[in-house]
Amino acid sequence: MCAPPAPLLRLLLLCSWAGVVLSYPFRTPVELDVTPRITVPIHGLHGCRRFRSSTVNHSALLLQPDSQRLYVGARGAVFALNASDISSGSSLQIEWEASREQKQQCLTKGKDNKTECFNHIRLLQRFNSTHLYMCGTHAFRPLCAYIDEKRFEMSSPEDGKDKCPYGPTTGYTGLIIDQQIYSATQYEFRSFPDIRRNSPSPTLKTEDAPTRWLTEADFVGSALVREGSNSPTGDDDKIYFFFTESAEEQSAAYSSSRVARVARVCKDDRGGHLTLQKRWTSFLKARLICSLPEFNFHFNMLRSVFVLPAATPEDTLFFGIFGPEWKNVKASAVCRFTLSEVREAFQGPYMETQDSGSKWKEYSGKIPDPRPGTCITDSLRARGINVSTSLPDDVLDFVRRHPLMSLQVQPADRRPLLFRRTTDYTQLAVHVTQAVDGQEYHVLYLGTDDGWLHKAVQVEGQLHIIEELQLLDEPEPVSSVLVSTEQMSVYVSSPSGVLQLPLSSCARYSSCYDCVFSRDPHCAWDGDSCVDILPLSNRSTLIQDIQHGNRGCENYHQAVVQKSRSVRVGDDVLLQCELTSNLASPMWSQDGRDLLGYGLSSGVRTGTDGLLIIDAKPDQSGLYTCYGAENDIRVPIISYNITVQEDTPALHNTEPAEDFHVFTLPTPEEATSTERPQNPLPAPRLPKTNLLNPQNMEALYLTLITILGGLCIVLTVVLLYVGFCLRVNNRGKYSLRAASASYPKNKRASKNRKHRSSANMELKTISSHCNGYANGNAKHHNGNIQNGGLLQIVPGEGQTTSNRDSPPPAPPLPPTPNRQSPDCEFGNGLAATLPSMLRRINGNSYVLLRQNDSANTSPNGYSFTDELNKMLEKRKHTQILPRPDESSV
Ligand SMILES: *[C@@H]1O[C@H](CO)[C@@H](O)[C@H](O)[C@H]1NC(C)=O
Ligand SMILES: *[C@@H]1O[C@H](CO)[C@@H](O)[C@H](O)[C@H]1NC(C)=O
Ligand SMILES: *[C@@H]1O[C@H](CO)[C@@H](O)[C@H](O)[C@H]1NC(C)=O
Ligand SMILES: *[C@@H]1O[C@H](CO)[C@@H](O)[C@H](O)[C@H]1NC(C)=O
Ligand SMILES: *[C@@H]1O[C@H](CO)[C@@H](O)[C@H](O)[C@H]1NC(C)=O
Repeated sequence: MCAPPAPLLRLLLLCSWAGVVLSYPFRTPVELDVTPRITVPIHGLHGCRRFRSSTVNHSALLLQPDSQRLYVGARGAVFALNASDISSGSSLQIEWEASREQKQQCLTKGKDNKTECFNHIRLLQRFNSTHLYMCGTHAFRPLCAYIDEKRFEMSSPEDGKDKCPYGPTTGYTGLIIDQQIYSATQYEFRSFPDIRRNSPSPTLKTEDAPTRWLTEADFVGSALVREGSNSPTGDDDKIYFFFTESAEEQSAAYSSSRVARVARVCKDDRGGHLTLQKRWTSFLKARLICSLPEFNFHFNMLRSVFVLPAATPEDTLFFGIFGPEWKNVKASAVCRFTLSEVREAFQGPYMETQDSGSKWKEYSGKIPDPRPGTCITDSLRARGINVSTSLPDDVLDFVRRHPLMSLQVQPADRRPLLFRRTTDYTQLAVHVTQAVDGQEYHVLYLGTDDGWLHKAVQVEGQLHIIEELQLLDEPEPVSSVLVSTEQMSVYVSSPSGVLQLPLSSCARYSSCYDCVFSRDPHCAWDGDSCVDILPLSNRSTLIQDIQHGNRGCENYHQAVVQKSRSVRVGDDVLLQCELTSNLASPMWSQDGRDLLGYGLSSGVRTGTDGLLIIDAKPDQSGLYTCYGAENDIRVPIISYNITVQEDTPALHNTEPAEDFHVFTLPTPEEATSTERPQNPLPAPRLPKTNLLNPQNMEALYLTLITILGGLCIVLTVVLLYVGFCLRVNNRGKYSLRAASASYPKNKRASKNRKHRSSANMELKTISSHCNGYANGNAKHHNGNIQNGGLLQIVPGEGQTTSNRDSPPPAPPLPPTPNRQSPDCEFGNGLAATLPSMLRRINGNSYVLLRQNDSANTSPNGYSFTDELNKMLEKRKHTQILPRPDESSV
């Protein structure tokens, strides 16, 4: 009377797939929300070195020009580390904490004794060839001091209140140029934000009246661009400041209250004579746009900038990390701006307001001559205007009232390089490297707010994330990132310490295809292994394909792991297939024939972690091969020789391995990729299909939603009926539950997956017989089998009758402990017992990737569930952009 179990399972699977489709955001630019290709947990880091001390808040990093020393500013201390090995123990230290009396005064001012009443080093820069200069908040009374580099000693401190903010979190940027300090911050509590230049040459500030030049500005960066050197017009060097501020120019188009800005001043500005005395005469600012135009979504908060100098000043690039205005929404975009576009905005029309508080609009009146806000150039000098103090009064008065430009600075390509829905990037650094193809590529190192580092390469205006590396075992924001070509290292600081990583870890890629798929410009295949190309001068024989990530490996065959296994008729069998790449989709063939695991009658289902043979029949015996399909190439990964046998008592007695399966349904992209036409072995190119183009996808989804929605209704009815039926008969077969429900301990993780939980159905137990729960094996392995009456386990690796001709399995991501730096290992041996890698699909769902082979099963009975929970806890990717369309689907 009850519905047959197998079709029921299929319906359930279909229905959960519908859930994936339904929760799939149509309005999200899929092609921009980039998934990191590989995920490297902390124990998988290669060549990592750490510096830790008793101090906290290591924030300021400064590399000496010869790259031998790395200076680190922390809370109450400055360190000089050996840049080639920051963990070498030869570090020097200057302690500089606020005095007890100063701390007491800070407390009486009502400041926080846990954060504010310390000396946080906010500025640490080179002053001249022999000295550094540093400024600290000094428990709310900023001080600055010189550091004698050779002896690594500080001079007696001097007042710093015009150069340094009072608190550790106030937005701040500072530069020392030709021994003058240019800094921007909100200097005092409740004072207006200001961009200042300090003595010896005339002290300059921004203007507050009648027009306030800066409104609640939060500064993130500044840079000197040497536009004066070799300038045909005798132009001046300029200093650019980057910040977020309140939007004065509210318009109907944008309801944003904050906007990202770039401002600039001329280095040789000396202020005005009567008007704008001791004020900048060259201050101009413009809005920086970083948005997804097709979704009318603006990233208004600038979090960090990196300035990439170029041979000629006008080719200078500004990379910015932007976030949305809503504090609780995790999302980031990376936009790139060219100096020439910034210049264009500064040469365009001005904005104007009649009186403060009223609307800003484009100024259309007469612009005085010389053009307000420009530096002193040769043509002005020819007119006798040698310094800014000789600028005419009408020009200065215009400058005073027109700080804002009308043109907005658009990012290169008019769109972000990168968009991530579930990551908050905090800092970035860019490394320019020449690849084997002779082209120069921008490699970005992006730090996150939870202690990860993403390495990405820019290809045709988009970023491909090569890898995401877990740097810290406790989530902490990355506070700065610095790249050194000389040391071939990237330095990352966080509150707890500093970390040094090689620019690349090519040895991670074990095959030619893996190396080429990575698209890492630092790595290429030399015929034997994936090598770091930076030290190599002869690159002619190297194989690398940054542009497409799929060419060159035709002659290098991948070693395929082979396994044999016997199963009983009627069993449901999960053949696991582990893909290290988060961008690869699994594909399966049986005896050379492609399996499309989506038809109702195929008898198999494919998931991201394996293939499920449902209700095995004798004719399903054969050689199953799993491929990873990536960049239109498919590479064989593992083969299973499956023999389906009639039920025999002997098999019942075989002890199956105790395995834990999380069966996860494919995402829609993967689903469609399986429908692509396929070619035979070994690694054929897949013909391109327009199935993947967004319009077709959308139409496809809509159709599927309609169909599957109907199915779900039917299924609900069936389920209700079956549920009733099961209770009556106490016999049945399957239990499929949402993964979140099966981990009651893991509340946060289940919340994490709120949009995906319908997809993460857990295939807990499987049996061939309705009364299978009485089966001895099942009882042995599942103590609570009696209470459900519908559970049974099929062993994953169990009942392996033979292992003949099985080459040794090649784990693609060996957790190599780093001998040089024991710091980077897991102290508790967890690394060895972690049964599998976790992988994220589109950033917010987690899938079990690799089943441990019985050989390296945890000896101390580590529960995989616990591990999974721990890892999920660590990565709180909880928020997702609001999607107003979701409820209406
Ligand atoms: C300083 O470090 C502490 C503890 O590591 C952290 O809570 C705090 O946010 C840090 N402050 C800054 C300004 O980085
Ligand atoms: C820095 O470390 C490297 C490698 O450990 C060593 O060769 C070098 O002498 C060290 N330099 C200093 C200044 O200690
Ligand atoms: C900060 O103040 C609180 C209460 O005034 C006190 O309990 C705590 O010990 C102080 N912490 C430090 C680091 O002084
Ligand atoms: C660098 O500046 C410091 C501090 O003003 C000074 O004592 C030192 O002589 C300067 N060094 C050089 C080489 O000018
Ligand atoms: C401006 O500078 C030029 C050369 O640098 C000099 O000849 C001229 O006298 C200066 N004019 C003024 C008004 O200072």
